[in-house]
Amino acid sequence: MTNVVFMWCRHKGDNIIGVDGHLPWCIKSDSEHFWNVVQNENVVCGRKTYEGFPTELPVLKKVFVFSLQKDFVVRDSASHIVITSQKQLEDYLSEEDDIYVAGGAEIYKLFMEGKEKFKPHIVVDCVYEGDMKTEGTVVAEISDCISVLEKKYRKITPDYCADNVASAIWVRKGEFVEQKILKKVLAILENDAIIR
Ligand SMILES: NC(=O)c1ccc[n+]([C@@H]2O[C@H](COP(=O)([O-])OP(=O)(O)OC[C@H]3O[C@@H](n4cnc5c(N)ncnc54)[C@H](OP(=O)(O)O)[C@@H]3O)[C@@H](O)[C@H]2O)c1
Repeated sequence: MTNVVFMWCRHKGDNIIGVDGHLPWCIKSDSEHFWNVVQNENVVCGRKTYEGFPTELPVLKKVFVFSLQKDFVVRDSASHIVITSQKQLEDYLSEEDDIYVAGGAEIYKLFMEGKEKFKPHIVVDCVYEGDMKTEGTVVAEISDCISVLEKKYRKITPDYCADNVASAIWVRKGEFVEQKILKKVLAILENDAIIR
């Protein structure tokens, strides 16, 4: 079975995750948590998020980039793949392949509302309470996804707090959850965190 893991960092209260193609904050520990969680995994993202990835990436299995641009060029043609639909993604994955959905807002929504098998089994919900760089006009926010999260998912951990970010794991109500993934994510969140 393909396990689907979401991870995001949203601003408390308004669920903003990005402004003008960038993260509206710079929190080293949060970025480190994210890249540690997805290291050696398959990552799925939208073209805009992909363009904002750092130049140096950790080792990843594959990066699946959603784009409808026929001429979009990825940085690494050996392991980064442009896809146009969930159906196409399905064709690339075997049952043993897990995927880590890394946003942005369009892609979280697509996966939260799309094919049943690609709805997240685990959501790593990181909530930032602090100032944002608000200059900019294009705001990405995930309130629709949070409504689904609050209705259909169950929070199974306390908040792990570091640098004004409270991170917790949620799982789909009534569904099997891969313990190996939970253990890995927990070990990363617990590191240096205060538990509330
Ligand atoms: N805080 C966080 O956790 C977090 C995480 C990730 C991203 N972000 C932020 O979120 C913002 C980006 O989010 P976004 O929602 O604007 O963009 P996005 O989801 O990263 O990418 C959107 C692009 O994905 C492609 N796409 C979307 N739906 C598709 C579909 N059904 N089929 C094929 N391709 C599809 C399109 O690419 P084409 O235009 O090329 O066709 C679209 O323009 C940035 O500010 C980023 O920094 C924040």
